[in-house]
Amino acid sequence: MQVNRELFNEVMVPNYNPSAVIPVKGEGSRVWDQQGNEFIDFAGGIAVNCLGHCHPALVTALKEQGSKIWHLANVMTNEPALRLAKKLTDATFADQVYFANSGAEANEAALKLARRWALDNFGEKKAKIIAFNKGFHGRTFFTVTVGGQAAYSDGFGPKPGEVVHCDYNDLETFKSLIDDDTCAVMMEPLQGEGGIIAPDMDFVKGVRELCDKHNALLIFDEVQTGVGRTGELYAYQGLGVTPDILSSAKALGGGFPIGAMLTTKEIAKHLKPGTHGSTYGGNPLACAVAEAAFDTVNTQQVLEGVKVREQLFRDGLNAINEKYNVFSEVRGKGLLLGAVLNADYQGRARDFLNASVENGLMSLVAGADVVRFTPSLVIPEADIKEGLARFEKAVASLVNA
Ligand SMILES: Cc1ncc(COP(=O)(O)O)c(C=O)c1O
Repeated sequence: MQVNRELFNEVMVPNYNPSAVIPVKGEGSRVWDQQGNEFIDFAGGIAVNCLGHCHPALVTALKEQGSKIWHLANVMTNEPALRLAKKLTDATFADQVYFANSGAEANEAALKLARRWALDNFGEKKAKIIAFNKGFHGRTFFTVTVGGQAAYSDGFGPKPGEVVHCDYNDLETFKSLIDDDTCAVMMEPLQGEGGIIAPDMDFVKGVRELCDKHNALLIFDEVQTGVGRTGELYAYQGLGVTPDILSSAKALGGGFPIGAMLTTKEIAKHLKPGTHGSTYGGNPLACAVAEAAFDTVNTQQVLEGVKVREQLFRDGLNAINEKYNVFSEVRGKGLLLGAVLNADYQGRARDFLNASVENGLMSLVAGADVVRFTPSLVIPEADIKEGLARFEKAVASLVNA
């Protein structure tokens, strides 16, 4: 059988349009395709491969759990899930955890819990959900509706109701939208897909205060920012604002699909037996790998290392920009960074991504104007340097075209 990009068009639903490159092997921050071409990975599977590819601790956990027990129905619990939940709650504001399989599912659980909490405590009227323009929370119909990008939510018929949107960092408008009928506010503590946009401190604090004033739950979507990505275990820990519910996925499993919703006991009690669930949520194989990823990331050494690596990226990108003048700024936090294209290159982020691939580098975009980097949190310095050198070649090829 010829396994190539043409086969994709034949057998796969056309909702993606992948590159012609088909990776077959990865080790750390290096990846090889079918032809043996080598790539430096600055994408990390969109902030998923927090420890690079095939990290020994994760491979060991997968192999060990793989020869013990793979799956159980949720009529029985399992050791890896309980251990992981204990570690997550010990390390955060949360008391209890619900496991899912993806970011969207963790957010779906968070939104359903918020609605149930409001219904139980205040009655049917308290159903309004406020979220933010350019926000991204996943592709289930509820989460895509709460996300702030009509391009993703339009075209599927009637949407779940009582969802309103506000500009991120616009506290005045937010104040005019929130009221006692508001059940929850969902936000990313740093918008990822929307363009790597950080919140103003006054804004996050103001949102928290207004949620408290109106008895609304604050949900932080930490699917992209969580598990060390910003140099904190979770981004909220660097903001001085604590949410009521937090969702985590992506880096949580280091490449094995898993999601989690974290909350307090007081709120969690509204998801009584039978109210919500998932066949695979809390699967022992996923939780065993996630536990190993969590143990490895949640150390002073790795979290401090993220900040050191951030500086290497910033210095390297700024040096490239001094030579080629393509960015207006480099923004973001930790290893969730965006190089924002200046007026001359508006709308061309995808060209930068394609030129990177041609030069042996995997990068990402965040919208049409931002080149995004979300590498492994432990990417070696030599790979950062080599990757930046390849990125410089990609930039030069576009500037000189
Ligand atoms: C902030 C945020 N929330 C939710 C999601 C959805 O996660 P998943 O694709 O695992 O459903 C993403 C994915 O990019 C994300 O960045």
